Amino acid sequence: MILDSSDQVTNFAADMVCEVINTRTQSSTPAVLGLATGGTPLGLYRELIRRCTRGDVSFQNVETFNLDEYVGVEPSSPQSYRYYMLENLFSHVDIDLARTHVPVTWNVDLEQSAVHFERKIEQAGGIELQILGIGSDAHIGFNEIGSSLGSRTRVKTLTQRTRDDNARYFDRADQVPRTALTMGIQTILESQSILLLATGEGKSRAIRNTIEGPITASVPASVLQLHPNVTLVIDQPASVELANRDYYLESERNRTGFSRSS
Ligand code: F6R
Repeated sequence: MILDSSDQVTNFAADMVCEVINTRTQSSTPAVLGLATGGTPLGLYRELIRRCTRGDVSFQNVETFNLDEYVGVEPSSPQSYRYYMLENLFSHVDIDLARTHVPVTWNVDLEQSAVHFERKIEQAGGIELQILGIGSDAHIGFNEIGSSLGSRTRVKTLTQRTRDDNARYFDRADQVPRTALTMGIQTILESQSILLLATGEGKSRAIRNTIEGPITASVPASVLQLHPNVTLVIDQPASVELANRDYYLESERNRTGFSRSS
């Protein structure tokens, strides 16, 4: 789905997330969401907070699993993904914090922590909707280029490109951690449905390689071509490198009956 603006991407994503949550409100089992951090989902989280404050959605029956966490960063540090989630979503909605799972990397055996995280996902009945951003090198979670397409939660070394991209969140570039604990590609593929969001021209090459190139470990997100239920939602700038962009726009018009001026 190619939308005109990042605001439209945000609203589309918020509608999808709320639908998953609202169909489970009366259920005895929670809606299980997979969450991403980074710049891309910030608008989505703001919108979810807005809708929760308005009473349109409640997180009381929601369980969450985050894709990844840095190694070597304390959970209380503003650079940790646990902190990011508290700041940008969890502290502002009616979620039970005990049901929010971010990989634990501080003062633990990382291998055991990875196994424990996978077990928690299994105990929750699997992830119903996984939200993904995408790295400029097409990583998903922190599954960097060369990641095994059958991988499960484990420690990965970040590429220099990813460290450079994420340096904006740290005081100095050399403070960006070198490793992270991340859900594996196979873990992600086991989600019932996946919502991949991308905005901005900086993502357009990664998006092209993801959907128009071959499935290869050199483009980790390309494995999503194998998943039966992926929704890709991008804005115009993120679509500029797509070779078949006009065709996608036309098929969207035919499917939705929606006529777009651009
Ligand atoms: C974050 C994550 C990463 C980001 C990706 C894009 O939890 O798993 O894969 O989604 O690095 O980051 P932004 O959105 O900052 O461009």
